[in-house]
Amino acid sequence: MLQRRVYKRTFSPDDALIDLVNEDVDIIPILSRFSIPLGFGNKTINEVCHEAGISTEVFLLVVNFMLSGEQASANATRETASGIVDFLHNSHEYFLSYKFPHIRANLTSALDSTHEDINPVIVNFFDDYVSQVRLHFNYEENTVWPYIRNLIAGESSSGYNIGVFQANHDEINEKLSDLKNIIMRYYHTSQPNKMYDVLVDIFNCEEDLNIHTLIENEVLIPMVKSIEQ
Ligand SMILES: [Fe+2]
Ligand SMILES: [Fe+2]
Repeated sequence: MLQRRVYKRTFSPDDALIDLVNEDVDIIPILSRFSIPLGFGNKTINEVCHEAGISTEVFLLVVNFMLSGEQASANATRETASGIVDFLHNSHEYFLSYKFPHIRANLTSALDSTHEDINPVIVNFFDDYVSQVRLHFNYEENTVWPYIRNLIAGESSSGYNIGVFQANHDEINEKLSDLKNIIMRYYHTSQPNKMYDVLVDIFNCEEDLNIHTLIENEVLIPMVKSIEQ
């Protein structure tokens, strides 16, 4: 079950970016996916977005949704939908090229040599999970994003609409959650500190994927529906 945390504060273009990051640490990985560099000093959100060449409106739509759980429904324009798709595409790249390899490397280095029977099972379990997520992302990259980009460009596409995606959009966290539980319940190790680090990474990754799916379900899909009409 996807859950979101609800905060009170939302942010505006003239607020300082540093205040936003201090409000919620989960904003940090979002910055990298928007290609916002560190070293932003006391600049406002608007200044930083302008310098990074990204839409302040799209950036605030994503972060305020994360903080409040509310989507600003007035923002369903072709430009914002396009910006959200670009952001979700960057997020797929981030998970596949950075986050999953990072967790896998730490996981393999945390394995205890006295468990040579179960270690390959754990690594295979993780690899199977990544393969499943890759398939999920590939469908979005090869079918859903092209459909939305064509829709934004005013081209008709036969037979597909965003309702098809909505009806078939699965959660992608269950197997990762299973892995975490197997390790916590059954994996004795002589170097627990490394394995604790891996668990924290898996918890963070789960939360990050949870937010990713919520943005697809609760921001992108309603936005595309209103463009379809
Ligand atoms: Fe996705
Ligand atoms: Fe998805």
